[in-house]
Amino acid sequence: MTYTIALLRGDGIGPEIVDAACRVLETIGERYDHTFVFKPYLMGGCAIDATGVPLPQETVDGCLAADSVLLGAVGGPKWDSLPGHQRPEKGLLGIRSAMGLYTNIRPARLYPSLAAESPLRADIAAKGIDLVMFRELIGGIYFGKRGRSEDGLTAYDTEEYSVYEIERIAHAAFKAARLRRKKVTSIDKANVLESSRLWRATVAKVAEEYPDVTLENMLVDNAAMQMVKNPSQFDVIVTSNIFGDILSDEASQVTGSIGLLPSASVGDSTRGLYEPIHGSAPDIAGTGKANPIATILSAAMMLRYAFSLETEAKAIEQAVDAVLAEGYRTADILGASTAMPLTCTEMTDRILERIG
Ligand code: IPM
Ligand code: MN
Repeated sequence: MTYTIALLRGDGIGPEIVDAACRVLETIGERYDHTFVFKPYLMGGCAIDATGVPLPQETVDGCLAADSVLLGAVGGPKWDSLPGHQRPEKGLLGIRSAMGLYTNIRPARLYPSLAAESPLRADIAAKGIDLVMFRELIGGIYFGKRGRSEDGLTAYDTEEYSVYEIERIAHAAFKAARLRRKKVTSIDKANVLESSRLWRATVAKVAEEYPDVTLENMLVDNAAMQMVKNPSQFDVIVTSNIFGDILSDEASQVTGSIGLLPSASVGDSTRGLYEPIHGSAPDIAGTGKANPIATILSAAMMLRYAFSLETEAKAIEQAVDAVLAEGYRTADILGASTAMPLTCTEMTDRILERIG
């Protein structure tokens, strides 16, 4: 089979890590007889520099025409002073929305070989972390009405959710829970926000269709606390755009390995956008220090979800598990280890060797 993958390399370390993932996909292609055609497009700061806008129409068209999209990271200090609608991040929000990617799937797991990197107390880390966050991605306060008063002394952003928007992300979460430990924790602020009260009521209704899955509701402030106190309690989390943004950073950090965590954004079709959870790390761009693993694992998620290539996805994941278990480290996951940190290219080479 031939698969066309749109590449949004982006800014900072984005190009290095996307190129690493492409090398892995090429090796998978040779070994399992698939052809991956890569089509690069500009998005983010690099698009602003080249075209004046963060998301050129050509990029939107290219992503919509591709079988899937692989993204590095966008943004950096160079573009920080631009007004909101011209920032690199606007490109990311725009492509998510243009592709209808309402479900953002962010797994966070503690690698036993990296447990020492977790900032959690050893007895808490020992219980393990294996959760997956389902974050609503194209609604809520990110896309609500916003503005400033004429005198510039007041500003507002609006959190708004419809039953339809809540239902579709809730179904995605419950379906995933069925394939896991059968528990969904819905996180909201229903003691204060009307939109959260609608969220809670709607998720409860959807839950009736999944009697084999346990639903638990949790207030977001408590959830932030539980994430460090007892993260092993979480299986599938479903939450709004803004709460998911905040909690997924927290979840990734308690595993001690933000450089390892992939994500998938999908909508009604399996064609989606796959990207590492971490940012563009402009401070280390071009130094070879970037960890390619989160992007390589994002490519694995793409093979699994977008192309139904489970064996190929597992081959990548097992190669990553193997190099980590063997003690290979990039600088970000070095911790107390005295090993020489590998560069982005060297780590990719080690993973390729284990794919065969
Ligand atoms: C993320 C990022 C983005 C978000 C930014 C860059 C717009 O933080 O993917 O979590 O807030 O969604
Ligand atoms: Mn974020």
